[in-house]
Amino acid sequence: MMLRNLLLSLTAVALPAMAYDPITLPVIPPDPAIEKKVAETLSKMTLEEKIGQMTQIQLDILGEKGPDGKFRLVKEKLDTVIGIYKVGSILNAPYSYCLDAETWNVIIPQIQEASMKYIGIPCIYGLDQNHGTTYTNGGTLFPQNLNVAASFDTGLCRRAAEITAYETRASDCPWTFSPTMDLARDPRWPRFWENYGEDPLVNALMGAAAVKGFQGDDPNHVDKNHIAVSLKHFMGYGVPYSGKDRTPAYISPSDLREKHFAPYLEAIKYGALTIMVNSSSINGTPVHADPLLLTQWLKNDLQWDGLIVTDWADINNLYTREKVAKDKKDAIRIAINAGIDMAMEPYKVDYCEILRELVEEGSVPMSRIDDAAARALRLKYRLGLFDRPNTLLKDYPKFASKEFHQAALDGAAETMVLLKNDDNILPFKSGTRLLVTGPTATSMRSLNGGWTYTWQGHLTDTYAKDYNTILEALTNEFGAANVTYVPTVTFNNEGSYQDEIVADSEAAIKAAANADAIVICIGENSYCETPGNLSDLHLSVNQRDMVKSLAKTGKPIVLILNEGRPRIIADIEPLANAVVDIILPGNFGGDALAELLAGKRNFSARLPFTYPREINSLVTYDYKVSEEVGKMEGVYDYDARVNVQWPFGYGKSYTTFEYSDMRVDKKEFNASDVLTVTVKVTNTGTRDGKDTVLLFSSDKAASVVPDNKRLRGFTKLALMPGETREVRFTIPATDLAFVNAAGKWTLEEGDFTLSIGNQTVPIYCTTTKIWDRPNL
Ligand code: BGC
Repeated sequence: MMLRNLLLSLTAVALPAMAYDPITLPVIPPDPAIEKKVAETLSKMTLEEKIGQMTQIQLDILGEKGPDGKFRLVKEKLDTVIGIYKVGSILNAPYSYCLDAETWNVIIPQIQEASMKYIGIPCIYGLDQNHGTTYTNGGTLFPQNLNVAASFDTGLCRRAAEITAYETRASDCPWTFSPTMDLARDPRWPRFWENYGEDPLVNALMGAAAVKGFQGDDPNHVDKNHIAVSLKHFMGYGVPYSGKDRTPAYISPSDLREKHFAPYLEAIKYGALTIMVNSSSINGTPVHADPLLLTQWLKNDLQWDGLIVTDWADINNLYTREKVAKDKKDAIRIAINAGIDMAMEPYKVDYCEILRELVEEGSVPMSRIDDAAARALRLKYRLGLFDRPNTLLKDYPKFASKEFHQAALDGAAETMVLLKNDDNILPFKSGTRLLVTGPTATSMRSLNGGWTYTWQGHLTDTYAKDYNTILEALTNEFGAANVTYVPTVTFNNEGSYQDEIVADSEAAIKAAANADAIVICIGENSYCETPGNLSDLHLSVNQRDMVKSLAKTGKPIVLILNEGRPRIIADIEPLANAVVDIILPGNFGGDALAELLAGKRNFSARLPFTYPREINSLVTYDYKVSEEVGKMEGVYDYDARVNVQWPFGYGKSYTTFEYSDMRVDKKEFNASDVLTVTVKVTNTGTRDGKDTVLLFSSDKAASVVPDNKRLRGFTKLALMPGETREVRFTIPATDLAFVNAAGKWTLEEGDFTLSIGNQTVPIYCTTTKIWDRPNL
């Protein structure tokens, strides 16, 4: 009774929800002491040294694999790259093995020593620590970003980034090429899982949380536990027209500003220190050659003084692939003049010589070189590299600690989405006998995806052998006597990531006779970038046939989807009693799943993307109304249908929630108003649970075709059975604006609705307002 009274009293405390933050310019207020040092250092540098600061070379160029099998630097190579060419930045890890922190602690100090000896300026090393400490063997690996988005918990995102920063510093590296915030809006694209889902606001708030976690709160003084980020890949990379990696995108001017730019803008507000550029083109202009996006939008409009780095060899791509330059020299001229500050020129230092020629000829102004070199120096001062060029493992006792592993396990459990649970088949009752099968049941590669120990994650089964696969975790949880494994389809790790080995399903069908339920683990082997291109989004025929054969046994089927993008499963979904999408949950994914299936934890994640049902219906939740207007009464049916498997924001729990009493403090508003929206959320089931509350707006009529709806705020809260809490959203009315046909932000007079779950409130904007400032 006392507990009940306490719970009721909580309804008075409104829980604030997340939405966009305001911006002040300049986004990173300069520190005069740092600016003085940058100017002094720059004034003493030669043209060659300045160009060296604008150059990034990959590690392989500096060394070789030694007799002990470990990477080692070669002095002559260092003397050339750093001594002669004055290269100021190195990146990457070897392709075919993963270095441990001890080895990084040998390699990077040697690079720093050469750098201080030959240039007097520390080198900046950069690594793709993309879902935890990717490139340091033994480091902590978290769920991939798509999972983090499914948690709808920005706190998880920040904590994962903080731990990654700490372990990356322990590896003596001060810079990561993360977070990725391209918007996962096309599931055909092989980098779908690297982003925070399809929605701009989710990407923006997760990206901002990642920046705070990686860099800390003061971008001018990044301490020894934090590292610099590189937001990537600026921008529009996630919607290639062909669905294939690094191919052209065609994006309307409105979508470019309103949706693709929004995550970058939000992360920059928190002081993101560097940005990496999209390898491809938007509307015919390669982004590496676009002064409007690089110089105007980022550097001028935002007064952002950070550094823009290319992606892999992308200046070369301007003449080899994109054909906007006639040769390498032309490509370098175009890119540097467009606003590129540092070239990721992985293999060759001739870029330095060519850029010097361009400056001497007057084709690249000296002011551009000074600006770019100053940005590199500023970054190094902000990171404290001049005072502390190295940070070593011995000073980071929490590296790979139990505390960090627990955070990764708890995080994984928050990111798995329960999509179907007919007759509450889950959680399994104790003593349930399980038949486990399917290719992802025994694969640490599948749990982690790409960017895991290696770029393709192809060696994860070896490096992560001490962590539990799904099968191992289920066996630990339910007992060896209750878990039988029979291989059916497995991945062929010797071949491409799509190669499968198919066993006769008779053995599994036979084993099913002694099981109470069949857990079929389906999905994808690890891949990354271009090698992950697909010609068919359907889940493989082998895997779908396996499910169909096992369904004939009549035993309840639980499908575990372990995949980086939603592969179409429309023909097998009806055969399953339960479906869980674990996406790519990392090294602790098997354990987290086992605890969820056993009911020791509750599901709380929601889909951060739209799960497609048809290959010809790859829509996002913010589709245009006309895409399904056919279903409306009194309107001619053009047979336009949005027919998805599961919508954005969908996800079940072992308990149930209800919304009530949604209120908006103003029925009428204009652009200077702030709207306060409240709703009551009640746990109406019998278990503790967490609910994600999503606030959507719809613009009923506008001068450009409005989106069906848009997410304007979200929060996640824990509720005990019977508990009710009020959630409060504070939304500036300007968040309801859109970019009009003239490219300007506008809030138009007219009707809108705000909705949360089954609750909807109409509101009316009384005055039209158009903004002059393009991006803010
Ligand atoms: C990827 C980037 C990555 C870079 C450096 C490129 O191929 O597109 O995401 O940061 O390599 O490893």
